[in-house]
Amino acid sequence: MICVKGKISRRGILFPTKAQRAQSFFSKFLCVLCAFVGNSIPLREILPFTQIIKSNFTRCTTYKAIKPQMIKLTNINKTYHNGSPLHVLKGIDLEIKKGEMVSIMGASGSGKSTLLNILGILDTYDTGKYYLNNMLISNLSETKAAGLRNRMIGFIFQSFNLISFKNAMENVALPLYYQGVSRKKRNEMALEYLDRLGLKDRWEHLPNELSGGQKQRVAIARALISQPQIILADEPTGALDSTTSEEVIQILKEVNRQGMTMIVVTHERSVAEATNKIIHIKDGLIEETEIVNDMKERKGRNNVNLKEISPSSKIIYTI
Ligand SMILES: Nc1ncnc2c1ncn2[C@@H]1O[C@H](COP(=O)(O)OP(=O)(O)OP(=O)(O)O)[C@@H](O)[C@H]1O
Ligand SMILES: [Mg+2]
Repeated sequence: MICVKGKISRRGILFPTKAQRAQSFFSKFLCVLCAFVGNSIPLREILPFTQIIKSNFTRCTTYKAIKPQMIKLTNINKTYHNGSPLHVLKGIDLEIKKGEMVSIMGASGSGKSTLLNILGILDTYDTGKYYLNNMLISNLSETKAAGLRNRMIGFIFQSFNLISFKNAMENVALPLYYQGVSRKKRNEMALEYLDRLGLKDRWEHLPNELSGGQKQRVAIARALISQPQIILADEPTGALDSTTSEEVIQILKEVNRQGMTMIVVTHERSVAEATNKIIHIKDGLIEETEIVNDMKERKGRNNVNLKEISPSSKIIYTI
């Protein structure tokens, strides 16, 4: 709240002075700036440094900035035309903010994977609008789509999708190959990511020489290596037993806590409850959005301790 003094006309209307108008404009500008920065910044701390706003500034509460948007879908429709037309998505509206961890639940065939494929630019939509990080995703050439996917999105699948004849290190390094990174550099980075996920000693193993949980950790390392903006996971725990599922979801949660936006499709309530928000899809429409309360979300929070994910630090992995 900002109070300004001004001239009072004969009718009692407050007219701000030029300086006050400038102050008001500048305050609004700072608010927008704060929103972009995405932090909670007390204006009190910023304003004294400006020359414009001085004596008229009486009280300022902490400005809670709005998190910027990562995904915005408006009225997305998708029909498959193999055989008789199948209208799968029937007008999806969805907003996901940067740093959110969201799950998508729904009956088999309700359109969850179709939606995730559209979000991951693996498939196209018919009508509506899809903005990824404020960029309209529409009519992209395959090359451009592949470039965006490689730069911005990490994928994790139920069936791991590892290349069977490549070892763990080569699988993790693959996204960097498509980015033109040299073999030496990409292998070094792959080993670093495997190390962070507690798998360095398994780098030479082929996928069929790894357990389900280990395969999924290799897949997570592969998704993270290109430092994407968003992770899309389609039933990441679907092929795992309950203990290994818990382990994998705690890794994903830790990655999210370190700032990564994450969308997880799941059939398991316990997995969904580990996220901040559950989106329920029914017959191609969002039926309900459920906010997971803190108590549920806190369950098992201390099960995994991953150190900061930054290129120079290691994840210490303890269950
Ligand atoms: N490429 C395709 N061509 C034609 N129909 C498709 C295609 N992909 C999916 N479908 C159909 O679209 C519907 C939604 O499929 P989708 O894979 O999105 O469901 P889902 O919610 O992920 O289901 P599940 O939980 O079983 O994975 C299904 O009826 C499916 O048969
Ligand atoms: Mg599916």
